[in-house]
Amino acid sequence: MSFTADRLVLFGATGDLAQRMLLPSLCALDHDDLLAPDLKIVGTARSDLSDAEFRDFARAALEKFLPANRRGGMAEFLNRLSYQPLDATTLEGYEELAAKVGEPERGIAIFLSTAPSLFEPTIRGLQHAGLDGPHVRMCLEKPLGVDLETSREINDAVAAAFPEERIFRIDHYLGKETVQNLLALRFANILFEPLWNASHIDHVQITVAETVGLEGRVAFYDDAGALRDMVQNHMLQLLALVAMEPPGNFNATSVRDEKVKVLRALRRVAEGETVTGQYRAGAIQSKAVPGYDEELGKDSDTETYVAIKAHVDNWRWKGVPFYMRTGKRLPERVTEIVVQFRCVPHSIFEDKGARMQPNRLVIGIQPEENVHLSLMAKVPGLDREGIRLRSVPLDISMPDAFSGAVRRIAYERLLLDLMEGDQTLFVRRDEVEAQWEWIDAIRAGWAEQGLTPRPYSAGTWGPSAAIALAERDGVTWHE
Ligand code: BG6
Repeated sequence: MSFTADRLVLFGATGDLAQRMLLPSLCALDHDDLLAPDLKIVGTARSDLSDAEFRDFARAALEKFLPANRRGGMAEFLNRLSYQPLDATTLEGYEELAAKVGEPERGIAIFLSTAPSLFEPTIRGLQHAGLDGPHVRMCLEKPLGVDLETSREINDAVAAAFPEERIFRIDHYLGKETVQNLLALRFANILFEPLWNASHIDHVQITVAETVGLEGRVAFYDDAGALRDMVQNHMLQLLALVAMEPPGNFNATSVRDEKVKVLRALRRVAEGETVTGQYRAGAIQSKAVPGYDEELGKDSDTETYVAIKAHVDNWRWKGVPFYMRTGKRLPERVTEIVVQFRCVPHSIFEDKGARMQPNRLVIGIQPEENVHLSLMAKVPGLDREGIRLRSVPLDISMPDAFSGAVRRIAYERLLLDLMEGDQTLFVRRDEVEAQWEWIDAIRAGWAEQGLTPRPYSAGTWGPSAAIALAERDGVTWHE
C-alpha cells in the first residue's frame, strides 16, 4: 500500500544512532521542506523523559552533529517531536505509545534502532497495541542477528506481524550517493557493460578502510568482529552491485532479484582465502593510539581486520577473484572499488620497448567521491630510444561535476524512502539470509582451523599475510 507516512516512531530515540544520524537527517530534510508538513515524530526509549526534555536532548544532538547551515527551521522541527518512555520488553506501555502516536491520516513508519534482542518483544507489544495494520511500515537497523539462525528468528518474528512489502531493512551503504552512482555508471553508460565480465576483467578489489577503533562500542564490536560488522552487510552489498546482471528496471523487485542471484552464487571460501587481523598499539596520522586489547580492557580473539578472496560462480564472473578487505585503525578512511581490466591481448608496442599496464577503474565512495579511469597514453617525444607509454588518469570528481548539489548523508535518503514506501534501497530477507549463509561458512572454517587474528600495528594496512593473499596471484592492493 502506497502512502507517505504522517507518523514516525523512533525506538532507541536516545541512542547513539538517533543522535548522530537519525535526528540530524530528519532535521536536514525538514530544512529542505522534504518532510510531510503534518509529520509527527514520536521518540521512545527506556529513559524517563518528558516531551520537553526529549526536545532538549534532540536540540543538543542537532547542535553537535548537524552543520549550522542545515539547521534552519530547527525550532519547527523540534515541534514535531514528542516522547513516550517505554520498557520494550513488557506489554505495558505500548497502549500509551499508541495513544501518543494518535490516529494517523495516512500511515505510520516505525524505526527500530535498538538491540536485536528487543525486536521480538517490540513486535509483540506493537501487535498488542494495534500498531501493526496495513498502514504501518517496519524499519529494522542492523545487526539483524549474529548468524543465519538468529537472523531467521528475527525475520520470522517480524514476518508474523508485517508482510515483506512493509519491512525495510537498513544497510546504510545503499543510501550513499556514490554507491547508487555505481548503478548509474554501469547501467546508464554503454561503455562499461560490454567489458564487464571475465573476458575483460582480471579482478575486482573492494576496500573499506577505517581509521577509527572501537569508539566505545566495546561489547557489540567484540561479539561481532569485522566479518560480521562490515562484510556480512555493506561489503557484500557493494559486491552484489558490482557483479549483478542489469535489472529490467530500477525498482525494488528487479534490483533485489538481481542482487540476490549474485549473493547465492558466491562460492564457499576455501582455506587460505581469508586473512584476519587485530590491531596493536600504533599511530594514525602521527597520533599514538592503543591496541585493541587495551581499548577493550581484556584479551580477545575478535578480528578487527579481514581480507577475503571471493568468487562469484556464474558465467559472467568465472575465474575473476573479488578481493575484499576491511579493517579498523588502518592508515586512512577510504571506501573504494577497483575494477582491474585485463591487458590488451597483443601489444604492438612491445618490440619498441614499451611497458603496458592494464586499464583500471577506481570508484571512490568515501571520503572522496570520484571515478578514476586509468588509460595508457604515449609520453610526448620523438621516441628515438623506443616508445614510452604511461598510464594517465581520466578523473571525475563528483562534488566538482555537481557543484550545486546538496551532499546528503545516507540516512536522509533512506528515511525519506521509508516514509514514502520505496524499498529499492533496502535489503530483502532472501538477500540477508544469503549473506549470512556465506558468512557462517567462513566462520565455521575459521573455527575448524582454529584461526586466530594476526597482529598488525595501528596505522598500517593490516597483516602482511593479507598483502600476500593478493600477491600470490600477482595482484597488488590499490593504495
Ligand atoms: C557500521 C559499522 O555499520 O558502519 C561500524 O557497525 C562502521 O563499525 C560503520 O564504523 C562505517 O560506516 P561509514 O558510513 O562510516 O563507512
